[in-house]
Amino acid sequence: MSEILDYQVFDSQLQHHIEAIGTLAQWSRGENMLPLTLDSVKAHLFGLLAFKDSSIAGYRAVTASYESDTYYELGGLIVAPQLRGQGYGYEIASYHFAAAREVFPKARYLIFVNAASKAIAGKLGFVAPKSVTELPQAIYEPCASSCREYVACRLVGKMCCHEVVIWDPAI
Ligand SMILES: CC(C)(COP(=O)(O)OP(=O)(O)OC[C@H]1O[C@@H](n2cnc3c(N)ncnc32)[C@H](O)[C@@H]1OP(=O)(O)O)[C@@H](O)C(=O)NCCC(=O)NCCS
Repeated sequence: MSEILDYQVFDSQLQHHIEAIGTLAQWSRGENMLPLTLDSVKAHLFGLLAFKDSSIAGYRAVTASYESDTYYELGGLIVAPQLRGQGYGYEIASYHFAAAREVFPKARYLIFVNAASKAIAGKLGFVAPKSVTELPQAIYEPCASSCREYVACRLVGKMCCHEVVIWDPAI
């Protein structure tokens, strides 16, 4: 990966952002992630679109906050299918996380990771929590409402089909 990406904070008033979200929504369908939709992206606290040669290349967001802004959740990470495996996922996640810590400083962060995104979170300094009981239980609410794997997870006693990793500025 050698080209520099053009990062833009999502703005629902911009037509090219709306069109980009349509593309992201298509990419996210069938992936092991909560599907991205215009409504879900509008609800994100800090969404960052990455463009390459004026085309949408990827996305990452601060999706939610918990326990009076003690914890922020990062999510929605996606890279254009044709650009995967070239370092763009790490580049986008890294740029977004640095920006997020300026917008929401002194907070703890958490991410639901899958097999593909786990290495990226690890490179950003995220680690497994000592116990899942230290996590806000509200983080699992979207699983029940939006994830097609939810019932299968609960049948085997899991809260979520993803692992949760955390980043704490005090560590
Ligand atoms: C996950 C995703 C964003 C990774 O983007 P990417 O540009 O391919 O990732 P990178 O090339 O920057 O790779 C970064 C690291 O992740 C690892 N990785 C990437 N894809 C992987 C995969 N499918 N399985 C295992 N590891 C993977 C790479 O090996 C690399 O690790 P390394 O630095 O130790 O070599 C991309 O595959 C994607 O959009 N997937 C669909 C959406 C998704 O699953 N999002 C995560 C939701 S939790």
